[in-house]
Amino acid sequence: MKELIDAGNLPKHIAVIMDGNGRWAQNQGAARVFGHRNAIKAVREVTEGCAELGVSYLTLYAFSTENWARPEYEVRALMELLVQSIRNELPTMMKNNVRLDTIGDTLSLPRSCQNQLAEAIEATKENTGLNLILALGYSGKWDIIQAVKKVAAEVKNGTLNPDEINEDTLAANLATKERPEVDLMLRTGGDHRISNFLLWQLAYAELYFYEDLFWPDFRREHLYQAILAYQKTERRFGKTGEQIKANSAK
Ligand code: IPE
Ligand code: IPE
Ligand code: MG
Repeated sequence: MKELIDAGNLPKHIAVIMDGNGRWAQNQGAARVFGHRNAIKAVREVTEGCAELGVSYLTLYAFSTENWARPEYEVRALMELLVQSIRNELPTMMKNNVRLDTIGDTLSLPRSCQNQLAEAIEATKENTGLNLILALGYSGKWDIIQAVKKVAAEVKNGTLNPDEINEDTLAANLATKERPEVDLMLRTGGDHRISNFLLWQLAYAELYFYEDLFWPDFRREHLYQAILAYQKTERRFGKTGEQIKANSAK
């Protein structure tokens, strides 16, 4: 399937809602946490798949603001798993030239997570391949609020005239800052919702939902399948199909 992908028309930025770990485990009579442990392989698959193809940005929704409301033992298990997998995956990230970063309220994470993340971000900062961004303690509304607060502070201290606030002002203050907006968003697990993921940044994204696939079963082929569907869509950005065709013929 990979050979069918047009390397000249890749999504620059792919975002993924990695959903369905709990149900994957429960379907086989295991505890939800078993599903989280088996999700790491899928993370590796999507990361390596994107890195090999030459995708520039991959943002993975790993823990939402709302996920704090889960049972305490599940939250604790997720945090421990995060520390372990960042540590274990660091050599693979280096080998694949992956640069790691995070978005979200990472100060809300346990100290051990913050330290492990800081170490991996520092170690990979000179890498020039795929930018892998983990959304942790993230929600789209949180992001917009923290951006608005920064904009308001600039207005208050007199460095910004409110009449000059435009899309770029807000975008520059979002957690995703200088990164491009999302071209393609994937969600496993069968639900068709955004779950407070990137809101602003998904404004013109193509959305791809896997109906019968839980995240632990995600493999490179599933990535290829979504990219092929993406390459078949005409992205019009409000214009007419004729305008788009005339432009691409140039
Ligand atoms: C996604 O799987 C992982 C996280 C949200 C951390 P879930 O844990 O949401 O699994 P389901 O959706 O309950 O099956
Ligand atoms: C979205 O999944 C968050 C992550 C994948 C980290 P959820 O399982 O939390 O979403 P809902 O609750 O089904 O909307
Ligand atoms: Mg879920």
